[in-house]
Amino acid sequence: MAESMKGLKRSARCAEISKKDVGSQVTVMGWVQKSRNTGGLIFVDLRDRSGILQIAFNEEKVDKEVFDKAYRLRNEFVIAVTGTVKEREGGVNKNLKTGDIEVAAEDLRILSESDTPPFPIEADSKTKEDLRLKYRYLDLRRPDIQSNLIMRSKVATLVRQFLSDEGFLEIETPILCKSTPEGARDYLVPSRVHPGNFYALPQSPQIFKQLLMCSGYDRYFQIAKCFRDEDLRADRQPEFTQIDMELSFVDVDDVIDVNERLIAKVFKEILDVDVKLPIERMTWIDAMNRYGSDKPDTRFGMELVDVSDVVKDCGFGVFSNAVKDGGSVRGITVKGQAAMPRKKIDSLVDFSKDYGAKGVAYICINEDGSLKSSFAKFMTDDEMNALISAMSGEKGDLLLFVADKNKVVWDSLGALRCELAKRLELIDENKFNFLWVTEFPMFEYSEEQGRYLAMHHPFTMPMEEDLELLDTDEPWAARAKAYDIVLNGTELGGGSVRISMNDVQEKMFKALGFTMDEAYERFGFLLNAFKYGVPPHAGLAFGFDRMIMLMTKSESIRDVIAFPKVKDASDLMSEAPNVVDEKQLEELEIAITAKATEE
Ligand code: AMO
Ligand code: AMP
Repeated sequence: MAESMKGLKRSARCAEISKKDVGSQVTVMGWVQKSRNTGGLIFVDLRDRSGILQIAFNEEKVDKEVFDKAYRLRNEFVIAVTGTVKEREGGVNKNLKTGDIEVAAEDLRILSESDTPPFPIEADSKTKEDLRLKYRYLDLRRPDIQSNLIMRSKVATLVRQFLSDEGFLEIETPILCKSTPEGARDYLVPSRVHPGNFYALPQSPQIFKQLLMCSGYDRYFQIAKCFRDEDLRADRQPEFTQIDMELSFVDVDDVIDVNERLIAKVFKEILDVDVKLPIERMTWIDAMNRYGSDKPDTRFGMELVDVSDVVKDCGFGVFSNAVKDGGSVRGITVKGQAAMPRKKIDSLVDFSKDYGAKGVAYICINEDGSLKSSFAKFMTDDEMNALISAMSGEKGDLLLFVADKNKVVWDSLGALRCELAKRLELIDENKFNFLWVTEFPMFEYSEEQGRYLAMHHPFTMPMEEDLELLDTDEPWAARAKAYDIVLNGTELGGGSVRISMNDVQEKMFKALGFTMDEAYERFGFLLNAFKYGVPPHAGLAFGFDRMIMLMTKSESIRDVIAFPKVKDASDLMSEAPNVVDEKQLEELEIAITAKATEE
């Protein structure tokens, strides 16, 4: 039978009590982590979000009724205890913040009983994630998830404080919207009042924040929910949170400046990590050439080397033909791995195939100077030597090469580089390496759609130097005033300077194959707003979940979101998405097709 807490008031959270409270009476409330009965003594570990506190019930010192009640306690019962703080008699527990004290109980109330939980409530849980997510309300009791969410809350507060001090206004934008131009698939919400019409959930507040600049709000921010119907990965959720901002009368350097100071403040105050400012900047093309990635992990070397010039006329057709066809041949030097077994090399080849590589050619430079290679037979000794020297290969090294179109070479070698660093444990997990990647291309070719798309979004301003390219039929080489902030190989955020000149915007739409009519149909309200006086403006959005994931060194973005979704975008606890009442569908004038019904 549960008791009421009437007349009781909690005096402190469990782990807020310390040695300085010895001798005083406290009332604590929380969950039973465990209880041990040692004859005339019952010890209870009491848990709340602050931590654990030991309670001692001494049969000789408490009322029989209280002791009998303590005897009944099981894990996860919710209790209130009143007692006196004492130094621990049975030796200090160094693993606990409260390990040098205990509360000698005088009174006990059982506020709620508990069934046996389906898995232990403990840090570093061995329980399968699916089961934990089904009972997320229990999983959320675990101290590691609690500390993640506590950090998340602290960072949000700090960000609000910082941006507010910098003159930003927090303004909310709608969730029921018209489709936004971020390029992922929209989540749609049917309208009852306008049958056959749909709202789109925002992929980001992009258009609204630009409108706020048109309206003179000057500096906006929002900790905003965004929705994208895309394939999920360890760092992606269908609904996620951005720290979103937009600034008027600024250029690239202004956005970078305020954001790196924000990063430095958050990392210093929360993690006591000093981020050296200014953060290094690298152009997109340098990032691709050196790391094969637009989000390079700079915690380790193993940079890509372009050997196209060295092998363009060599006897190995895979290499020479790739160069002739306009592609390239690039390699990485894996230090001291010449003796890597064939099986392991083969597994790297398989790995790189997922990134489009048709193969990976290798040279092992044995310790005695002899070579083992998958393509030596096609090459002269001079050609081999020139290649090894271009790679700065030394005795004991393993050289890996991919030949293909640039994109495939970059993607596969870039991924191989990271995979090798992981397997060979080359990464210093204590480092936080920030990097700005700048000068992104304006356009990106989509194999799927057979045309060029805006790499960031269609409102991104080209670099002044490249504006002329937009007047030609081949504007594809134009670079954008777009920037990403990268942390340890993860894209933490991104943004751009926006187009605020009508003629540039028109050229941009033309290049993307939209007529102005089509552009007006999609974004008319923004284009119209631009007719009434638009300030130059720019902005950026951080992936807030990703930021906390990296700050807490979590393996998955799910560990920093209270109620996350799994790979198939479902919520295992609430079982969303789900069927709805026939009547709801009728009101919306929506009919389900036969195929969906079968599923
Ligand atoms: P972008 O699309 O680059 O830019 O998004 C900004 C940041 O949001 C995070 N992010 C995600 N996090 C978790 N799950 C996802 N599915 C997901 N998708 C993106 C990333 C990313 O860097 N409106 C522009 C910003 C701007 O131009 O101001 C935008 O949304 O960390
Ligand atoms: P082959 O002559 O097809 O046996 O290929 C010789 C070596 O080249 C093998 O180790 C292949 O894995 C490798 N290879 C094949 N295609 C490529 C490619 N596009 N880039 C790099 N290496 C390749």
